[in-house]
Amino acid sequence: MITIDGPAGAGKGTVARRLAARLGYRLLDTGAMYRALAWSVARAGLAPEDTPALRRHVERVHVDVEGDRVVVDGRDVTDEIRSPEIAALTSRLSMLGVVRDKLTPMQRRMAATGGVVLEGRDTGTVVCPDAEVKFYLDASLEERAHRRQLELRARGVEVDTETARADIAARDAQDSSRALAPLRRASDAIEVDTTGLSVEQVVSLLAEMVERRRREPMGCG
Ligand code: DC
Repeated sequence: MITIDGPAGAGKGTVARRLAARLGYRLLDTGAMYRALAWSVARAGLAPEDTPALRRHVERVHVDVEGDRVVVDGRDVTDEIRSPEIAALTSRLSMLGVVRDKLTPMQRRMAATGGVVLEGRDTGTVVCPDAEVKFYLDASLEERAHRRQLELRARGVEVDTETARADIAARDAQDSSRALAPLRRASDAIEVDTTGLSVEQVVSLLAEMVERRRREPMGCG
């Protein structure tokens, strides 16, 4: 099991996908599951603060991961969940116990067979604390905002630099300060600052570290 955590825009998504492909592992994008649940809440027209209704909804809704697609009650929402609005709602909902209690056990089950790269905020701290290799990716706020802007542009969504920076900073603050499973580096995670590095450089660096860990498992010096 390999975990990759870090703040929004640190490059986790692309890097995790390429690393998994390089190693012949499966990829589990845990953020996509949170986004899918948030999408279903928005679609049902529920307010995040309406706790009883939210609880009923979360208990009923089915979130499935099928390869690299994410499906809510039989509908493929993989592309729809990438909007800035869904990102903001996801960050709010992922603070709630009722939401985390639904998705965390699913993620553990999906990772249990191994040969998997998990990507998210709490995969190395809460979902798979026993993972063999843990990474924590970070980059400057400037660079993360710029990457998010390019990613959205590729999907046909234009946001200005100031908005991208403010959105990312707000999500960082919310994801790091929440009481349940906050974003933080696991004490045994390898921290990689991706500022100024290309995706290929980061993937190669991580793959080398995985190789090294295979040759010299932890505890051997
Ligand atoms: O990585 P992402 O942008 O798709 O994640 C969307 C939101 O989901 C993020 O702001 C916080 C939440 N999230 C979480 O709380 N725990 C995870 N393991 C993954 C994502």
